[in-house]
Amino acid sequence: MCSRDPASNQLIDYKNKDAEAQKVATTATGIPIGVKDAIQTVGPRGPALLQDFVFLDEMAHFDAERIPERVAYAKGAGAFGYFECTHDITKFCAASIFDRVKKRTAIAMRFSVACGENGSADTVREQRGFAVKFYSEEGIWDMVGCNMPVFYIRDPSLFPSLVHAQKRNPQTHLRDADMFWDFMTLRPETLHALLMYFSDRGTPDGYRHMNGYGAHTYRMVNPSGETFYVKFHFKTDQGIKNLDARRCTELCSHDPDYAIRDLYNAIKKANYPSWSMFIQVMLNEEAKKCKFNPFDVTKVWCQKDYPLLPVGKLVLDRNPTNYFTEVEQLAFSPANFVPGIEPSPDKMLQGRLFAYGDTQRYRLGTNYNQIPVNCPYRVHVRNFQRDGAMTVSDNQEGAPNYFPNSFCGPKESPRALALQTCCPISGDVYRYMSGDTEDNYSQATDFWTYTLDNCGRKRLIRNISEHLSEASQFLQERAVKLFTMVHADFGRLMTEALNTAKISKF
Ligand code: HEM
Repeated sequence: MCSRDPASNQLIDYKNKDAEAQKVATTATGIPIGVKDAIQTVGPRGPALLQDFVFLDEMAHFDAERIPERVAYAKGAGAFGYFECTHDITKFCAASIFDRVKKRTAIAMRFSVACGENGSADTVREQRGFAVKFYSEEGIWDMVGCNMPVFYIRDPSLFPSLVHAQKRNPQTHLRDADMFWDFMTLRPETLHALLMYFSDRGTPDGYRHMNGYGAHTYRMVNPSGETFYVKFHFKTDQGIKNLDARRCTELCSHDPDYAIRDLYNAIKKANYPSWSMFIQVMLNEEAKKCKFNPFDVTKVWCQKDYPLLPVGKLVLDRNPTNYFTEVEQLAFSPANFVPGIEPSPDKMLQGRLFAYGDTQRYRLGTNYNQIPVNCPYRVHVRNFQRDGAMTVSDNQEGAPNYFPNSFCGPKESPRALALQTCCPISGDVYRYMSGDTEDNYSQATDFWTYTLDNCGRKRLIRNISEHLSEASQFLQERAVKLFTMVHADFGRLMTEALNTAKISKF
C-alpha cells in the first residue's frame, strides 16, 4: 500500500480546502456544543446525568448507525460520471439516453465482490458486480450486471441457495468447501460460470481492468414499436488485467481494500476510467429458431452470429463525497426500466425484478427512492404513493393521491403507452425443472477448448484443485465426473492435480 496516495491524503485535502472556515460543533439539532469531551457528572467522579443531551444525542445516533449490508455483493466501491452515446441505435431502441449521438446522461456505478461481507478483502477469487444507474430524463434505468457474461443458475428459486452455499456455514461461521462444491456439483448448469470463476477472470486487478456484462437477455423497443432481444457488454478501455494467485494473497494481507483504493486514486488523479458499451442483437425470428434457449443466462451468444455493435461510453469522473450517503445507500434494481427497454422472459431476470426493491425497503426504508443518490432527479416524480417513514420530499403536496381523478392529477404518458409491447403468450402453468433439460456442457467445453490457452487451462486446474481439495472425497469425485463431461482432458488433469494436492498434504 502506498502511504501517501490521493486516498491517504483525503483529510489533508479537506483541511487545505477549507482551512479558514470557522466550524462550530453542534448537536444533530444544530445547537452549538461548548464541551465535547466530557460527560456531565455530579462531581468529577460521577455519576452521570440523564439531562446531558449532548452526550445522549451522540451516543443514541452511534447506537443506530449501522444498516444491514447488502445480502449479496456487500463489499464495493462506487463513483459517478456520464454515459455518452457514440453510435445511433435508434433502429433498435427508443430509450431517451440513445436518442442522439453525443448525448450525455449522468450515471452512478458500483462495483462489488459477490459473496464476501462488507469488510472482506477485495482481491479474493469471486465474481465481481458491475452496476450502472442512468439518471435519464425519463427516469432511472439500472443495468445490474457482473464481470462474467453468464451466471451460475437459470432458475431464480435457487438464488438464495447459491448465495448460502458460498457464504458462511451456519454452525462454524466459516466459508465451507463442502457447501460450495455440494451445491455446484448437484447443479451442472453452474459449470460454465464456474470455469470463468476459476479462470484468471475470477481475480481482476481492481475494478478498472475488468469488463462488465448485463448477462441476461433484455428486450429493446424501437420508436415504431418493433422489438429486439439484446445482451449488454461493457469493455474496459483500461485493458483487461488480472492478478495472479500470489499477488492476490499478498494484497489480502497488505491492502484488503485494494480495488476501492485503486478506483478512488485513479479518479482523484483525473485518470478517469471508462468502458465502451456494445449490444448484441437477436431478432425475434432468430430467437424462435435459436439452437439453445436464448433466455438462459448460463449461455453466451456467439459473437460471430451476433456481433458486438458499438453504442457508447461510460466514464467515471467523480468520487463519492461521502461513502455511506452516495455508495452504501445506492439502490440498483433490474426492475428499473425506462421506455424502450424491457425484460425478456429470462426466468432469472424475472426473479430478480422483485428481489431488489424488496430488500431495499428492508435495507434502506420505504422511501429509499427519495435518497438523493437514488432519486430520479431529472424527473418530477408524480404518482399516488404517499407518506411512510423518512418522507423527505414535498410528499407531492396537495396533488390528488388517487387515480383516476378529476382534479388535474398526473396523467398516463402517451409515449410510454406507445412503447409498451404487446406480445402473445400461452402455455401450461407448471414448475418446469431446468437443471438437466437444457445443455449444460457445450459452452463450458467451448470455453475450455477455445477461450483458454494451454497456460490458462493449467491455471484453471491449479485454482480449482486448490479449492476442491478442501472438499470431501465424494464431492471431489462428483466434480471430476462433471469436468470429464466438459472435456476428457479436463477430468484427467483434475484427477492428477487432486492426487498431487493429496500427497502434498501428508
Ligand atoms: C434470481 C437471481 C437473483 C436475485 C434474487 C438477486 C438478488 C440480489 C439482491 C437481493 C441484492 C442486494 C441488493 C441491495 O441490497 O441493494 C443483489 C445485489 C446485486 N446483484 Fe443480484 N440477484 C440475482 C441475480 C444476479 C445476477 C444474475 C447478477 C449479475 C448478472 C446480479 C448482480 C448483482 C449485483 C451487481 C448486485 C449489487 C448491486 C449494487 O452494487 O448495489 N444478481 N442481488
